[in-house]
Amino acid sequence: MDTDMTTSVSSFGSLIRIPQSLLHGKVGSGRSSASKTRQHLKWAVYTCAFVFCLQALLEVVEADPVLASSLGSCKPVPVLKGAPLHCCLPAPKRLTIRFTFPFIPRTLLGRPILRERKPAHILQKDPEYVRKYNLAYARMKALPDTDPRSFLNQWRVHCSFCNEAFQQRKTPGPLGPETGVLLQVHYSWTFLPWHRMYLYYHERILASLINDPTFALPFWNWDNQLDKDAAKMPAMFLPKFGIPNAALFDEFRNSNHYPPKILYLGYNSKLEAEGQQNLTDQQIKYENLCVMYNQVTTKISARDFLGGPYVVGTDNSAATVNVSAGETPGESGGMESVHNVAHEWTGLINDPDHPDNEDMGNFIYAARDPIFYTHHSNVDRLWDVWKTIPDKVTKSGIRKRMDYMSRDFLDTEFTFFDENQNMVIVKVRDSLDSSKLGYKYTDVSESDKMWIYYEPLPAQESSKTCNSSEYPAPVPSGYNYIGMDPVSFKLDRRAPTTEDCRGKGVNNVDQLQEDVVLERVKIPHLEYARFDVFINYPAANRWTHLYMSEYVGTFTHLPSGMVDMSKSVSESSSESDDKFRIVTIRYSVNAALKRLGITDYNTDIVVTVVSKGKRNSSPTTGFTFSNLKQDFQ
Ligand code: C2O
Repeated sequence: MDTDMTTSVSSFGSLIRIPQSLLHGKVGSGRSSASKTRQHLKWAVYTCAFVFCLQALLEVVEADPVLASSLGSCKPVPVLKGAPLHCCLPAPKRLTIRFTFPFIPRTLLGRPILRERKPAHILQKDPEYVRKYNLAYARMKALPDTDPRSFLNQWRVHCSFCNEAFQQRKTPGPLGPETGVLLQVHYSWTFLPWHRMYLYYHERILASLINDPTFALPFWNWDNQLDKDAAKMPAMFLPKFGIPNAALFDEFRNSNHYPPKILYLGYNSKLEAEGQQNLTDQQIKYENLCVMYNQVTTKISARDFLGGPYVVGTDNSAATVNVSAGETPGESGGMESVHNVAHEWTGLINDPDHPDNEDMGNFIYAARDPIFYTHHSNVDRLWDVWKTIPDKVTKSGIRKRMDYMSRDFLDTEFTFFDENQNMVIVKVRDSLDSSKLGYKYTDVSESDKMWIYYEPLPAQESSKTCNSSEYPAPVPSGYNYIGMDPVSFKLDRRAPTTEDCRGKGVNNVDQLQEDVVLERVKIPHLEYARFDVFINYPAANRWTHLYMSEYVGTFTHLPSGMVDMSKSVSESSSESDDKFRIVTIRYSVNAALKRLGITDYNTDIVVTVVSKGKRNSSPTTGFTFSNLKQDFQ
């Protein structure tokens, strides 16, 4: 189960090593010895070829991409309020087909004509677009439940794939036998590719329903701090818009966050409920820039940005997750984590009648809100932007941002329904280049640059001289606790070695990304959780501004399926036999260390974890994690 192509390349390298006897063999004299050497060489070549083929074969057997389809067993998804939800999809009426790239028209000069996804705050000023957009959703909502293109079934696609309704499969194809391991496309490297292809088909269906092949989804440009309207909930989704927009409206949204509020990426519903989240727009703007900078710019490795590997058996972090005990593992990338905040901010929150935080605040319901697709359009755009960001992180300054190249990633497989109601098998490798899928995004690089080139405040003097020996080291593979009060740990650091480069797609240690990793954080499925991390700033607390130099990133967990229905909300808060997600969280620290003036790998640091609290339980309950460590990617 390689996680990166470079691993297999290096293992080839070690297998085709030329036998020592040939390299240092006695140089004989005369003909016979020369022909013997030739013979040896011939055999060496045969052996190498054989080993090479064998290795290639083993590769195929060893690759463990997750394979999934919406056929076969499908379990209802439990929710807190009401009966479990049926998110299963209709069976295809025709034979399943394989994905092929769409035909892309070209200009006379041969340039591809791509559909352009434009910012929602701009598009909503175009009455013609809003009418079309609304009409497309109105038609989608009017389709019968048996039609896989209907809005109901579009929601079900997300509800099922994102809430463990299906099982992983053993062999490619929609009817491969099931493994018994539940499928989840969040919390790993599948997050961005899966949602890209989901949107791709969603958009094509909308386009075909209004007979407009040029139709493209808008993107909710919530990271944009340049235009004051960009990060607001786009008005075209809200009541009293002026142009008919009923099909774009959803009643289950947090009306406290309607304009003129701007989406706050430091948002935490718990603090808000306590009346303790009172920032000025200016403060929100700088915190947002700093969150984007830390979740996107400082994350240069595929693992840090896209998320951890997800292979057959789910167990992506070795044998440390007890799947049979209801634990599901995960490692969200920086992009996924920041995307969760927009979900939490948009959905109903702190509303006793809606403990499930529908719609956007819970993955089960999220895609019932048309705003979901415009939110994800921005997430998808940011994946493209990420690949264009110059290094700015590693010592070498020349590392390129690239997707994973391993087979496990590329051959991961899903099914979707297309605009003709055909079930299509799609692989992750099909999703990596948006232009091949026939679309592009309006260039908003002026606002992107604000967070790409963001300069946090200079570090405080006290942080530069922070004495790590005053803080406890985490208990390795043990019980470590994060409560409502921030916790600080001393983190031992070391210099990277060439071993750390293996499988990372880099050739020397100067190209490595340094991470602080929280391992095996145990989070109940039904809980919100948020952890902000600071380096060498043990005074950090729930109110510390995220534009501080010492802040290095955020993790946000959103509730999802898997809740045990036998318990009520209050009972399940006791956590005794709840279902847990076991997540690994990475914080990328190269840039922060530089700001702190820490150039020496042997200087230990203080890592402060600030939990913003879980919502449903008493404020004294916290989270446990197994270890805190340094890692190189
Ligand atoms: Cu599958 Cu934004 O979620």
